[in-house]
Amino acid sequence: MIRTPIIRVDPRLPDEAVLERAASILRGGGLVVFPTETVYGLGANALDAAAVARIFQAKGRPQNNPLIVHVTDATDSSRVVSHWPKSAQLLAAKFWPGPLTLVLPKHPNLPAIVTAGAPTVALRVPAHEIARRLIQLAGTPIAAPSANRSSELSPTTAEHVLAGLDGRVDLILDAGPAQVGLESTVLDLTTSPPRLLRPGQITPAQLEAIIGAIVRRDFNQAVPDAPLPSPGRLAKHYAPRTSMECLDGNENACRVEELLQQGLRVGWITLKPAFDAARSNLVVRPMPIEPAAYAAQLYAALHELDGLALDRIVVDLPPDTDEWLAVRDRIMRASAQD
Ligand code: TXA
Ligand code: MG
Repeated sequence: MIRTPIIRVDPRLPDEAVLERAASILRGGGLVVFPTETVYGLGANALDAAAVARIFQAKGRPQNNPLIVHVTDATDSSRVVSHWPKSAQLLAAKFWPGPLTLVLPKHPNLPAIVTAGAPTVALRVPAHEIARRLIQLAGTPIAAPSANRSSELSPTTAEHVLAGLDGRVDLILDAGPAQVGLESTVLDLTTSPPRLLRPGQITPAQLEAIIGAIVRRDFNQAVPDAPLPSPGRLAKHYAPRTSMECLDGNENACRVEELLQQGLRVGWITLKPAFDAARSNLVVRPMPIEPAAYAAQLYAALHELDGLALDRIVVDLPPDTDEWLAVRDRIMRASAQD
């Protein structure tokens, strides 16, 4: 296997020669992993069907799961989107660049493989400086799912990317840990009223303040309502390999104790660490009680515990409120049975 080069880039002072090398790989039909503010993305030229096919191959992604197209700003999307509703203009003005993906009518010239044959396309303008400069230099919209193997955890560091995709991509740009840490909010604007497909840092209330009522399904149910226009909504997704369970309420220390009594090795991602003394067979990861800080650390905590060959990961569910919606959604998906 040919190992993938990783190049460190400083977002405050990006090395143009490195970014130009990455952009030329993209123009030539290759795959480049790049940082975004949410998670690392696995990019290819969205207008090149063969290049996009390589994304699906590298990830082992089912061909029926459409990709997000990344552009530098709304005006740069004329080759991707055929029509801009007023709601999209308002949301773009408010939240772009940033962690919001809008599903819009697809341009006929955009290859069908990008949208899995759908007449709609998911579009996002990332805020990360490296992502923005890379797309600009490539001179083309960039299709990019999260840079992980299909159904595994999204990567928030270049090390996470390498663990899943070494040898399967042409270049990895490493700009350190992602700041948001969870994938973007996905909102479908082709339905009326618009429909939230994936919760993220930008909350339903923030969206509704701009465009009025949207449909939110109950993201606190691990099993989604049918039918599924967005395979990312499947219950089992973004999961570690270690068997995982999540618990509401304050009794989780008892559950952890019970598992330890059974002789299991347990990792506990918790808002309320309860054991004073170190316990053998227990690894405790205390988490921030503030939603944004928690979100930024969740995948790193899961990746880390997943690497320890534990028998079980237990996660405390944060409160059932709007500001925790995305975090709870990801925890429940990661804990869902197949
Ligand atoms: O934060 C993010 O969005 C990251 C970074 C790299 O931008 N990307 C990301 O991509 O999370 P991915 O492929 O892992 O998730 C894309 C989600 C999936 O749930 C997919 O089903 C949905 O967006 N999606 C894409 N195109 C769609 C469409 N036309 N209609 C409905 N859902 C769509
Ligand atoms: Mg993904």
